[in-house]
Amino acid sequence: MITISHLTKVFETKGARVTALEDVSLTIEDGAIQGIIGMSGAGKSTLLRCLTLLERPTSGEILLGGQNLASLSGGALRSARRKMGVVFQGYNLLMQKTVAENIAFPLRLEKGRDKQAVAARVEELLSLVGLEGRADSYPAQLSGGQKQRVAIARALAAEPELLLCDEPTSALDPLTTGSILGLLADINRKLGVTILIITHELTVVRAICTHVAVISEGALAEAGTVADVLEHPQSDAARALVGGKGAQGND
Ligand SMILES: Nc1ncnc2c1ncn2[C@@H]1O[C@H](COP(=O)(O)OP(=O)(O)O)[C@@H](O)[C@H]1O
Ligand SMILES: [Mg+2]
Repeated sequence: MITISHLTKVFETKGARVTALEDVSLTIEDGAIQGIIGMSGAGKSTLLRCLTLLERPTSGEILLGGQNLASLSGGALRSARRKMGVVFQGYNLLMQKTVAENIAFPLRLEKGRDKQAVAARVEELLSLVGLEGRADSYPAQLSGGQKQRVAIARALAAEPELLLCDEPTSALDPLTTGSILGLLADINRKLGVTILIITHELTVVRAICTHVAVISEGALAEAGTVADVLEHPQSDAARALVGGKGAQGND
């Protein structure tokens, strides 16, 4: 279980002070596929960056397995980060490395894993994401959907408890989006990994999420099961999402 408690993030830049997140509290259950939905600029990516501790929260706590991530540093921080895999909209693959090298990247620092064990793990991951036989390809030789499959395999390499996805299908066409969401749902079912998926599209939430949180202007507008929030939205922000053309699922 992950408990986000009173999380606030303020960016101080020259002459400006932006409150990207204000007093956000949310509990994510183990095994859930938790959607975070909101408009552009709502603070979704900032929330993900705080969860992975790429950004330090200004205040508040993030509890993972009872540990407050915001208070960790050094080795404890690195081992907490290993419990999380991250997938981005733009894939973030190393273009000069092969598919196999990209997937093996998070394993390079692990002690006690020899070359053969790494190669076996890469094969296992390639098969999980449906890219058997592509180990020696380079990212430039793959389609967008295949690149995202490589990124998902890499994110899972070190067996994280939590897979964090920031707009993972926003660069993909609808058919490829469906296949990537199907893969994420399979992974959740097979591996039991908890998934947090950030999106601005209601179709993504409808397709795979069990729970959804609506963020608006840095604040949590509402959260609950997908059925509850979509059928009985309580906040203006959720009503705007559900009541607009998104209600037909083609936003
Ligand atoms: N590093 C930063 N410095 C200053 N402002 C930032 C920074 N990162 C994000 N912001 C601001 O925080 C707000 C939320 O941004 P973001 O989390 O990227 O939104 P979303 O992912 O929902 O589109 C925006 O107003 C954005 O301009
Ligand atoms: Mg974003």
